[in-house]
Amino acid sequence: MNQWQELEHRYFMNTVERLPVTLVRGEGARVWDEDGREYLDFVAGWAVNSLGHCHPVVVDAIVEQAHTLIQTSNQFYTIPQIRLAELLLQHSCLDKVFFCNSGAEANEGAVKLARRYGKRHLDGAYEVITTMDSFHGRTLAMVAATGQPKFQQPYVPLTAGFVNVEYNNIDTIKAATTSQTCAIMLEPLQGEGGINLPDDNYLAAVRAWCDQMGILFILDEIQTGMGRIGTLFAYEQYSIEPDIMTLAKGLASGIPIGTILAKDSASVFVPGEHGSTFGGNPVACAAGYATLKFIIDNDIAGNARRMGQYFITALQRLKQKFQLITEVRGCGLLIAMEFSSDIASSVVKACLDRGLLVNRLKPNTLRFMPPLIIDKGEVDEALGILDKVLSTIVS
Ligand SMILES: Cc1ncc(COP(=O)(O)O)c(C=O)c1O
Repeated sequence: MNQWQELEHRYFMNTVERLPVTLVRGEGARVWDEDGREYLDFVAGWAVNSLGHCHPVVVDAIVEQAHTLIQTSNQFYTIPQIRLAELLLQHSCLDKVFFCNSGAEANEGAVKLARRYGKRHLDGAYEVITTMDSFHGRTLAMVAATGQPKFQQPYVPLTAGFVNVEYNNIDTIKAATTSQTCAIMLEPLQGEGGINLPDDNYLAAVRAWCDQMGILFILDEIQTGMGRIGTLFAYEQYSIEPDIMTLAKGLASGIPIGTILAKDSASVFVPGEHGSTFGGNPVACAAGYATLKFIIDNDIAGNARRMGQYFITALQRLKQKFQLITEVRGCGLLIAMEFSSDIASSVVKACLDRGLLVNRLKPNTLRFMPPLIIDKGEVDEALGILDKVLSTIVS
């Protein structure tokens, strides 16, 4: 353990098991540690560095904004947040935005918005239905929304007002809907829960049920949005439109930001009912605008789709070669590889030793979520390292 890692152990609360690497620099899909070792980054800050590390358009936007205006209160109008709002709304099916600072905060706000809608239009209904294996964040309310016992049990009693039902089963949603239900909240494709894809028609059936019951459909696109799964937003691939959508992670390519977007009909907050000191911060919004504009102008979602297909096809070939790979699944550049036994940590470590960063999603599952700007050469390089690592494990 080096000096920085020793200091971390002395000073930090014990919330995360870090890998033994101290990263000091990044460029494109690559990062370097303090000894100058280079790594190909297929984690991208947990699906955050959408344009890779330190992309010039993002850096320039941050620097220019930092020289101009870093923060004011939301009592005043500021231009970067209005520009980002306009671009987001022009390119999505939603009508109104609220800016905050993280994914969990965006989801909290979305649930508050749904509760306000329930008070106004649904006789005080307040319950939100979510699914098992979902992930919606780490705040106390989002722990209750997240249908995974390992995140919930340390914090019982849980915040009231959430019902977790089986994923990919419209009947469980129908059975859980009562006169107290104000919304259903789903990830279009479950990320942290295992890269679990929705069955054909599942999201359309949920949309139809929400319409029939007059309740809101909240889509958590914090991990899937901003081009990650091959379209700017995941809902475009499932021919549905949410009433409320949340974004964070890749929106500003590395600068903290979160957003709630809503249809006009669901946008029921009045002044004073919700707020955030840093939400809509000019530097974060300038980075968000630069990221979104670059993604749109350069069809980066298309690149994610093409590179994702190329990568998944090649991983399927690895599956033919190595029997210990039991499944490859995913969409765009959000991909999981499952093994027959709990070897994910050893694979992560062996990849690290060979200069590739990958994420252990579960004891038997890896997740790949590289920057959306990767090219074929970088995908091939990652595949070569994986091949070598798996060959060593098999032998
Ligand atoms: C789908 C989804 N929702 C919410 C969150 C929480 O976001 P944050 O960590 O920014 O609070 C995450 C984080 O992984 C996520 O993947």
